[in-house]
This record gives sequence, C-alpha cells and structure tokens, in this order.
Amino acid sequence: MTRTIDRTTDHTTATGFSTRAIHHGYNPADHQGALVPPIHTSATYAFPDVAYGARCFAGEEPGYFYTRIANPTLALLEGRLAALEEGAGAVVFGSGMGAITATLWSMLEPGDEILADLTLYGCTFSFLHHGLGRFGVTVRHVDMTDPARVAEALTAKTRVVYLETPANPNMRLVDIAAVSALAHAQGAKVVVDNTYCTPYLQQPLLLGADVSVHSMTKYLGGHGDLTAGAAVFADAELAQRVRLYGLKDMTGAVMSAQDAHLVMRGLKTLALRMDRHCQSAQKVAEFIAAHPAAAAVHYPGLPSFAQHALAKQQMRQMGGMIAFELRGGLQAGVRFMDALQLVTRAVSLGDAETLAQHPASMTHSTYTPEQRAAHGIAEGLVRLSVGLEDLDDLLADIGQALDLAHAMDLGAGINAAISSGRAAAAEPSCSAPA
Ligand SMILES: Cc1ncc(COP(=O)(O)O)c(C=O)c1O
Repeated sequence: MTRTIDRTTDHTTATGFSTRAIHHGYNPADHQGALVPPIHTSATYAFPDVAYGARCFAGEEPGYFYTRIANPTLALLEGRLAALEEGAGAVVFGSGMGAITATLWSMLEPGDEILADLTLYGCTFSFLHHGLGRFGVTVRHVDMTDPARVAEALTAKTRVVYLETPANPNMRLVDIAAVSALAHAQGAKVVVDNTYCTPYLQQPLLLGADVSVHSMTKYLGGHGDLTAGAAVFADAELAQRVRLYGLKDMTGAVMSAQDAHLVMRGLKTLALRMDRHCQSAQKVAEFIAAHPAAAAVHYPGLPSFAQHALAKQQMRQMGGMIAFELRGGLQAGVRFMDALQLVTRAVSLGDAETLAQHPASMTHSTYTPEQRAAHGIAEGLVRLSVGLEDLDDLLADIGQALDLAHAMDLGAGINAAISSGRAAAAEPSCSAPA
C-alpha cells in the first residue's frame, strides 16, 4: 500500500525516520519548485506598519521580525528536529554549549538545585560549576548508573536532573525511563544530552525525558564543518521560554541560516551514516578488546559491557563512540595515539573521519585530576569516534598503533625486570646467604 504524504503538515509520525529527515515541513511547490529549501539570510523583517510590528513583539502576530528570535530557515530545521524526536517544539543554537546553557539558564533560578550525573562533557561540567554554581544554583552530582541513587539524591529543591547517555567520555549509560519517572515524582524535569546517539539511535522524550539537547556540530551536521546545537522539548511552553529568555536574552547564541542549511543536508543522510558508524564501531571495539594491549574497552555493543542489556533496551544501535584503556596506562595511550596514521588526532566526534583524542588532557581538562578520579574519567582513557572510512583500513591503522603500544608495554616490563635483576645483583652481600 502506498502511503500518501501530506507535505503541508507540520508533524507526521506516520512516515519513517529518513522520510521525515528529508521532507518534513517543506513543500517545493511553495518555493518555485526549489527542491532544496532557500537559505534566509535576512537578519530583520519588514513591518507593513507600526501596529503590526508591535503585535509581533507582543507575541500576537506569528510572523518573523528578527533572526535572533526566529528565522524561516532555522524554523524549518527546528520543525524537522521536533518531528525526528517526536517533541512538541525545538530551538536551535550556534553551538551545543549554546543549547545547554540557554536551556538551563531558562529552567533554573537561584536557590534551585540541579542534580547531574557523575560524568559529563568537560565544558558542561565547567558550566555547571563556573556558571550556574556561581549564580546561586546548587550543583550536585550522583552516579546515575543506579537509579536508586537518584531516588536518594532528589530533594524538594531539585528542579532539573541532567545526564548524558552514553556519557562523554567513559560511555556509562543511564536508564532514561527509570530516572525520568523518579524525577517527575519529585516535580523535577529531566534534560538528556543525546549528542552521542542522535534521534536516530535514541529518543529520550519518548522514554520520559522533558528535553533532549544536542551538539549538532557532531553527527547531525556530520561533516565537521559547522558548530551548532539544538534543544528538543516535550512541552511547547518550555520551548518558547527557552527561545524568548535563554536564546534571545541570556546567551544570544543564535545559529546561522547557512549552518542550518548544512545541518538539514546532514540530516538527509543521518540514518545511513549512523548505520555505518555503528557497524564499524562494533568491529573496531571487538578488535581492540581482542588485542593483548587492551586493558578495558567501553562500548555498549560488547557483551562484556556492564550495561549491555540497558543499551539494547533504550538504544536502537550501539553508536559510533568507543573509549578504552591500555595495559600500559597513560604512556601506552599516548604511544598509541601518536602512532596513528589514518585515524586523526582531534577532538570532536561524529565526523566522516575517525578521530582519536585523550580526554584527560583535552576535552575533560576542565576537571582537576582529583575531579576526574572522582567522576570516573581514567587518566589513560582514549576516546575514538569511529568514522566512515573502509573498515579494513581502520583496523590496519589501529592494529599497528596497538602493536607499538604493546611493544612499549612489553619493553617496559623487560626493563623493569632487568633493573630489578640489576638491583638484586648489586646487593649480593645483603641478599646472598652467608
Ligand atoms: C556530549 C557533548 N555535549 C555537548 C557538547 C558541546 O557542543 P559544542 O561543541 O557544539 O558546543 C559536546 C562537544 O564536544 C559534547 O561532546
């Protein structure tokens, strides 16, 4: 049976994910037949008279009047994101941090409390402690891998529960449905950073969360050529508050229309790209786990992953991100990364290129070493964003770098044995029997 698509509707869940990602909210017939939506670069919009302009500012007229508040190209992207995540509305921003800060500035007041998971992206952690924390919001962390701990930690002052799943960089998962139910019972709202999964792999709002935030710099853009963010809301009123307060006044973190065009181009291939990222990441994770240099591989698709069952329950596939530790610790991790030839040493993630980085010295250097230890971020952890290159080429490069790291490890072991032997030889009079 053929399904008819009403291109004029704002939102349809009757169509599949990619159909929505490609078509939602746009009818070429309304734009001289242009297949690709026009990019509206205008910063401002003309009013026919003063009364109309005043009505726009009072929110009584739906038209556009200034791009920092709304713009037709941004609105098309917002509608598409809301449709993909089945939200009531979305707001886009100039960066992921723009989305996170604008959302939280709009949801919290001095005296409120935010309960955050133990492990967070470095700049989010920094924003909580150097931003919200300095303005009268109490920030507390709890290990949300166990919902029982969330239940214990919630108080009457908790307004927001904030988490990433999988968490950047150590891949810990949080049960979104369980934590949302607990938070709602206490009157708190739940914000999930869904950057690692994208709406294709995980839909936090359908699991009970109130807001799903994204760095669109990553998979949604998908090509490493823009910075952007988004927040998708279960409640249209909260979306409007974040737009009119967090975006317009508190951060001004508006997204450019050209970048919105690029993200919409990225969305068209999101499902295809994610399928490939996930397939390759599974193979890369298995390959690293089987190598003698590996001490621990954190990837939700491995049966050895502690939260493998939860991953299968709330994620459609296991994602493109891997974290691992080598037997030789930090030194071996550095040796591994410096030996890479095809895989690129760079922060960020979700690009076509496979990227490797060292969280302790890079993305999570916003934590002190003591904080990293307390928040479950090992100093030797290596983070890989598995890209879209041919798998054999990736495995060859990662394999030779692991071999070198392992050789260094073996070398260190031999050196240690030699020097302890020398030490023993140097003390015969003490250790030898008389
Ligand atoms: C999980 C996560 N959330 C948010 C951000 C912030 O996004 P942006 O760099 O677009 O501001 C990042 C950036 O790396 C991230 O990894």
